[in-house]
Amino acid sequence: MIKINMEHAFLQEDIHAYQSQVDTCHEYLMKKTGKGNDYVGWVEWPNAYDREEFSRIKKTAADLREKCEVFIVCGIGGSYLGARAAIEMLNGLYANTKPEIIFMGNTFSSTYISHVMKYIKDKEVCVNVISKSGTTTETALAFRLLKQFMEEKYGKEEAAKRIVATTDKARGTLKTIADKEHYETFVIPDDIGGRYSVITPVGLLPIAVAGIDIDAIMTGLKKAYDDMNTADLDANPAYAYAVCRRILQNQGKDAEMLVSYEPSMAMVAEWWKQLFGESEGKEGKGILPCSANFSTDLHSLGQFIQEGKKVLYETLLLVEKPMEDMEFPSDAANEDGMNYLAGKSIDWVNKMACQGTLEAHEVTGNVPNLILTLPDMSAETFGYMCYFFFRACGMTCYLLDINPFNQPGVEVYKKNMFRLLGKE
Ligand code: PA5
Repeated sequence: MIKINMEHAFLQEDIHAYQSQVDTCHEYLMKKTGKGNDYVGWVEWPNAYDREEFSRIKKTAADLREKCEVFIVCGIGGSYLGARAAIEMLNGLYANTKPEIIFMGNTFSSTYISHVMKYIKDKEVCVNVISKSGTTTETALAFRLLKQFMEEKYGKEEAAKRIVATTDKARGTLKTIADKEHYETFVIPDDIGGRYSVITPVGLLPIAVAGIDIDAIMTGLKKAYDDMNTADLDANPAYAYAVCRRILQNQGKDAEMLVSYEPSMAMVAEWWKQLFGESEGKEGKGILPCSANFSTDLHSLGQFIQEGKKVLYETLLLVEKPMEDMEFPSDAANEDGMNYLAGKSIDWVNKMACQGTLEAHEVTGNVPNLILTLPDMSAETFGYMCYFFFRACGMTCYLLDINPFNQPGVEVYKKNMFRLLGKE
């Protein structure tokens, strides 16, 4: 379901030269023998996920949808990005679906937090607080405000029916609060880290509340598992992509720009940046993941890509069949001179912009382009794409001898912040 095209990537090495390294790293993933092997639960998840819990997610989501106008998802990082990526990609940016999904717990901005609190004041609200550690400060700060708001608005008993907690099965402050208040809870598996958790209740509950078919996501996930259950670089596009990344970095490309022509996929890029940035950026190694949305950003970053320092390559994440299309109308007066497009589909215009840009960046700009093509913007494709990037990420990190599943560097800012905040 995902095709990779390496013809525009200027690869100076043959990907097959990496086959034996890929074989070894494939074993690390499949046999759980590589670095960080406590966190490879996502590999077998398409087969092994708990069906009973999955049914409970669907039931809870249906109840919550009945109850609220606004559904608040309170979490950060891996406990936030995947759900938002799916909801924006699959529902679009102006879907007008009920309930409205709002994200909190992902910032200390007093302006943002106040705006949300004012916005929800007179609305019917439900909350899903999500934290694996149960102690993340951004999330805990927002959740205290939300909990007090809910209890004042609905009383303790009804508030408890409107709050769902997704957290560790046994540990953490959030688990303690959830038990004491009798919130419905969902478990984040021990062996799946935050940035790989969109396929667990972390992502699936909010996605289901947004009215998206999570069965289709799991179908896509399983198809990807079946397609990528091989180390063969000619058969596994995720591993081919992982190797291309290594070759391009060997050629001096230290930044990868994920480019989409769909504005509703901007959050997919944010999710992807976390996945690759947090997994690979360690020990002074890694490729800086960045993103752009074209053609919008061709009118800003396009200049740098075309003529700036040659530090980056582009990975085009293309969609073959758009979710919607429309015909461009004719106009008798043609005062804007746009009749040359009359009768053409707007998606065709988008695709021609893509083709022209690819040629400009490749031929004139000398920027390597890898192309990943998705068939459509469906829930099944979303599930498939997640697994594709998970596999690619695990492989590309192991090829670099990096543990893909920890994030020791994110603790440094927290330590400093806690000292400044006076936390004991
Ligand atoms: O990928 C990760 O592990 C992080 O981004 C975490 O998801 C993020 O820090 C939130 O952590 P928690 O779910 O413990 O609140």
